[in-house]
Amino acid sequence: MPDDKLLLVTGGAGFIGSNFVHWVKKHRPDWRLINLDLLTYAGNLENLEGIEEDHEYRFVKGDIRDGELVSKLLAEGVTGIINFAAETHVDRSIDSPSAFLETNILGTQTLLDAARDSKVERFLQVSTDEVYGSLGPTGAFLETTPLAPNSPYSASKASADMLARAYFKTYGLPLLVSRCSNNYGPFQFPEKMVPLMITNAMEEKSLPVYGDGQQVRDWLHVQDHCSALAAILEKGTPGEVYNIGGGQELPNLQMVERILEITGRPASLITHVKDRPGHDRRYAIDNGKISHELGWAPSVPFDKGIRETVDWYRENRPWWDRIKSGAYRDYYDKMYGSRSP
Ligand code: NAD
Ligand code: TYD
Repeated sequence: MPDDKLLLVTGGAGFIGSNFVHWVKKHRPDWRLINLDLLTYAGNLENLEGIEEDHEYRFVKGDIRDGELVSKLLAEGVTGIINFAAETHVDRSIDSPSAFLETNILGTQTLLDAARDSKVERFLQVSTDEVYGSLGPTGAFLETTPLAPNSPYSASKASADMLARAYFKTYGLPLLVSRCSNNYGPFQFPEKMVPLMITNAMEEKSLPVYGDGQQVRDWLHVQDHCSALAAILEKGTPGEVYNIGGGQELPNLQMVERILEITGRPASLITHVKDRPGHDRRYAIDNGKISHELGWAPSVPFDKGIRETVDWYRENRPWWDRIKSGAYRDYYDKMYGSRSP
């Protein structure tokens, strides 16, 4: 990144994007930010409370698929782009793939095209370990592991990764791609497993575990994801992919049991429901490249991170109450209404 940094953050009102804005304000106060977010169901300006709009930070409501708007923003002297904007929930992608292809693939392409005509010196495409597909009981994803996405969501993210690669090779755009494991932490929309289970436990509602609950995910605190992304922006080599993981593998059922233990609710709240179609069995990340090349390592121990996360949802009940009582309800009924075991 050049000295006078003006970063276009897309999707900065969602879970990881808003945590990234807070992280930058705290740890890189000299970076200026423009936050472009469409405020879909997953975008929430309450996630950015306390961030003042000034010369250093501005929010713009808009679509990454709007090439004219993106070009106009880049012409303000943007030196770097970090693209969080996406449709992100696997179950929604199974129900209705189109929005995933439109935002995650065509939206990324619009950003890439606009960047070609600009002075951008770094473009970080925030991707996911889900592009690698599913692992057996042993081994971990390397950056060289072949892509084998199994859901419309992961297929759309893999497509965007391939576009990033092509724009680096063909046009010499300074593209970097990060592939991170499952994040947990504050401001995660309560359709994702961790906040759904925490908030259901607090409401003494059943906790819907898909299938046998033995699917394994590698959990990383969102703060650690943010520090890894900053390291990639600052020190990463264009054209390279960086895996990011927490080294904390856990079967879903164990994660749910841990949440019940911390919230003091009984195991009888666990309900096994019909499995997700094409459900990936196991993800695990090899962190070797980012740790050796960029000196990054996760810093939040899982036990501390998950306790603090539960505390955050306890202390911020109005935040998730508003979400769960609104449009989210219809979605919940649609997803779980016909999903009895
Ligand atoms: P999220 O669903 O919480 O937030 C997505 C944000 O993008 C929302 O604020 C939404 O309003 C915005 N958005 C959607 N479509 C847009 C459009 N067309 N134009 C502008 N803004 C738009 O997602 P998240 O969990 O914060 O994930 C952010 C990124 O990180 C995604 O690209 C995701 O694939 C990736 N990722 C997520 C995880 C995870 O565990 N959550 C792990 C690895 C990678
Ligand atoms: P999720 O948070 O949707 O993340 P991803 O599918 O991107 O990994 O789900 C995490 C895991 O939890 C995944 O294996 C699916 C499972 N899961 C449940 O068992 N029950 C639920 O209600 C949800 C939303 C997820």
